[in-house]
Amino acid sequence: MSTKMWGGRFGEGTGALMEAYSESVSYDRRMYRQDIAGSKAHARMLAKRGVLAGEEAERIVAGLDLVLEEIESGVFPWRQELEDVHMNIEQRLTELIGPLGGKLHTGRSRNDQVCLDFRLYVAESLEVWTKLLRELAGVFVDRAAEHQETLLPGCTHLQPAQPVSLAQHLLAYAWMLRRDCERAEDALKRVRVSPLGAAALAGTTYPLDPAMVARTVGFSHAFGNSMDAVSDRDFALESLFCASVIMAHLSRFCEEIILWANPRFGYVALPDAYATGSSIMPQKKNPDAAELMRGRVGRVYGSLMGLLTVLKGLPLTYNRDLQEDKEPFFDADDTVRASLRVMAGMLAELRFRPERMREALGQGFLNATELADYLAAKGVPFREAHHITGRAVAQAEALGIGLEQLTLEQLRVFSTAIDQDVFEALRYETAVARRNGPGGTGPQSVTNQMAELSRWLQRP
Ligand code: ARG
Repeated sequence: MSTKMWGGRFGEGTGALMEAYSESVSYDRRMYRQDIAGSKAHARMLAKRGVLAGEEAERIVAGLDLVLEEIESGVFPWRQELEDVHMNIEQRLTELIGPLGGKLHTGRSRNDQVCLDFRLYVAESLEVWTKLLRELAGVFVDRAAEHQETLLPGCTHLQPAQPVSLAQHLLAYAWMLRRDCERAEDALKRVRVSPLGAAALAGTTYPLDPAMVARTVGFSHAFGNSMDAVSDRDFALESLFCASVIMAHLSRFCEEIILWANPRFGYVALPDAYATGSSIMPQKKNPDAAELMRGRVGRVYGSLMGLLTVLKGLPLTYNRDLQEDKEPFFDADDTVRASLRVMAGMLAELRFRPERMREALGQGFLNATELADYLAAKGVPFREAHHITGRAVAQAEALGIGLEQLTLEQLRVFSTAIDQDVFEALRYETAVARRNGPGGTGPQSVTNQMAELSRWLQRP
């Protein structure tokens, strides 16, 4: 005779190979707090609806608290043969409080139970991400505040394009992280829906109150359709998409740190705590933290693709394939949390080198747009101004100097509209200072952005 909880109809036990293949307790035990919280809510609801006596529910709840203590103090006897976290906890409850423990599962199935646990877990993760995203955005804003005057080449195609302030560059990431945070907050609305009461797939004959369970666990409402409730995992997909975008954003900045730390750029000096040396080349200081983060993006995208693939062919309702939802999420969750923390630490200590950025400004004709705009302001049609500027750039390039180093006579060869005031227009500081339109790199715009982001950071 099988000794499994579901073993009534089975003559023989599970083979060892199958047991190891099907168990999930090795990883889903992470959800023990959520499982216990869901079970307590379920027991109290059963009592409220008269399915259990009030005193029975209280003994079950007390027993679940004992189980919680055992788990947290490390003495809980986790057993692989009990398959998953749900059956491990229920079995232990029954050992501790006797046959009454067997009443906890009334009107419930592991199908709705596991989904509630997972939703609780995902919701907590999203909350942690939003907190860490705000913290990291705060570091970007702080570092931006230090560098409102620092200018560097802004690039398109990784080619020098126009001068920008380092503050503007850093704030770009703060805006990305703000959207990541808002995206996670929005996803939370769809994660915080309780599936409990859907039972195996069709609902139950017991007079349950799913809305009460939802309220007790802190969710906004209960499922609308039992078959949907036990079988969809779109809430996890959406959360993995949120995780993927977060990692994409972090990875872009990692790439910049890696480039900027290269001596050819030399825009940053890496904090020792986030770099490593080479075992053979004594001069090396490698940007390992940034590289690892850039590399770990693959795990998170992989988790999203993996779960999308698990779901695509599943007929309604629960299928055991769905057990494959948890590991990818846990892995992505660990990666996102650690990456956000490491990035906050690394950015806080990154040493920017304004003098190197300043040097780079002089290479690449970053003030060419200014000359074209200067001519246009003097009435030269922009297309012609663009052409004149191109010729001036070619001349300066041939001489190996910047546009601002051409003399007035040399410049006037290209257009007599050019006067002494051109040199003011060609200054990099002027180019930045004049871009004060909304969202631009000008100092007033940067100040406004910082104020707007700080207001967001202070909102609860
Ligand atoms: N460990 C299972 C999972 O993660 C729990 C649900 C099992 N349900 C079932 N009908 N076998 O999906």
